[in-house]
Amino acid sequence: MTYEYPEIAKVADELHAKLKDLADKKSVLRDPALKSLYEQLKNMPQEHRGSFGKEVNALREELTAATEIGSASANALQSIDVTAPFDVNVKKKPGLIGPEAGGVHPLMKEQDYIVDIFNRMGFNAVESRQIDDDYHMFTSVNFPEDHPARDDYDTFVTSEGLIAPAHTSTMQNRVLKQYKENLERGEPIAVVIPGRVYRNEDIDVTHEHTFNQFEGVYVNKGVNVGNLVATLKAFLSEYFGQELKAKLQPFYFPFTEPSFEFAIERPEVLRKGNSEADMWLELLGCGMIHPNVLKMAGIDPEIYTGFAWGCGIERLVLMKYGIEDIRHFESAKLEFLRQFS
Ligand code: DAH
Repeated sequence: MTYEYPEIAKVADELHAKLKDLADKKSVLRDPALKSLYEQLKNMPQEHRGSFGKEVNALREELTAATEIGSASANALQSIDVTAPFDVNVKKKPGLIGPEAGGVHPLMKEQDYIVDIFNRMGFNAVESRQIDDDYHMFTSVNFPEDHPARDDYDTFVTSEGLIAPAHTSTMQNRVLKQYKENLERGEPIAVVIPGRVYRNEDIDVTHEHTFNQFEGVYVNKGVNVGNLVATLKAFLSEYFGQELKAKLQPFYFPFTEPSFEFAIERPEVLRKGNSEADMWLELLGCGMIHPNVLKMAGIDPEIYTGFAWGCGIERLVLMKYGIEDIRHFESAKLEFLRQFS
């Protein structure tokens, strides 16, 4: 920086020269030469005061920056203290919150309960992935290339083309292959797949961009829609501890044929009005597994049939506890979370 006022330029040169030899770099900011510039400022005629003041401040900033560069490199060389700030042999560690203050998140608690019910119904459990690929997200579940249905599953993609899955159906092909030998032994494939999923979603009281689903897959000889409905009803009445009104309506999913939407009666706290449309909460998608999906896993659809479903865990939990806003789950509000511990 060049300074208009020669007295400032002179101090600048002097102090830069001094700085090189100083052990405590910051002490340059307390140097009498710099202080004297501020003294001069006080007695300066009004018309010069502004521009002189600006230059003195600029010099101060320049020197501060120079001291920081020096100390940053000094810091980089300092070793890091990796010792614990307390005696590791003392049981109660001062200042740390103990495990008794924590709790299992309500969604994980409910997920465990859901998996437990299905275990008792004879289903295995396999966890879904949080990063997947195009083949498992779309192709393996019968989405034709460039099919518009792909747009319903708009989600995050890395620059390498990896996908944050928009549904747990990404796991269908894997579990069908993994448990295929069951069929050869005359046993069914019965798997429940919990996992976190992601969507480009407009957020409101019943929609989140990140949520949890559990997928169900059941394959055997002679499986039909009646088995699907009976399985879901058995699960729901166990989960809610009561019979619930449910209705099945036709829908479209590429991976099932026929496909349905399974709706249950919406509890009053979640109703916005009294209209018939608002009475029902669309709970899950389901259907008979499309022959192409079975074929892609090496299962002969002429011999075996099966059903599948995908259900949002948050929706179930909202219903069960009459929670009015799905966004509470990820809000980290302790008043909310502690009600479930
Ligand atoms: N994957 C669908 C979704 O997230 C839900 C679904 C529908 C899953 C039908 C299934 C199914 O397995 O058969 O929108």
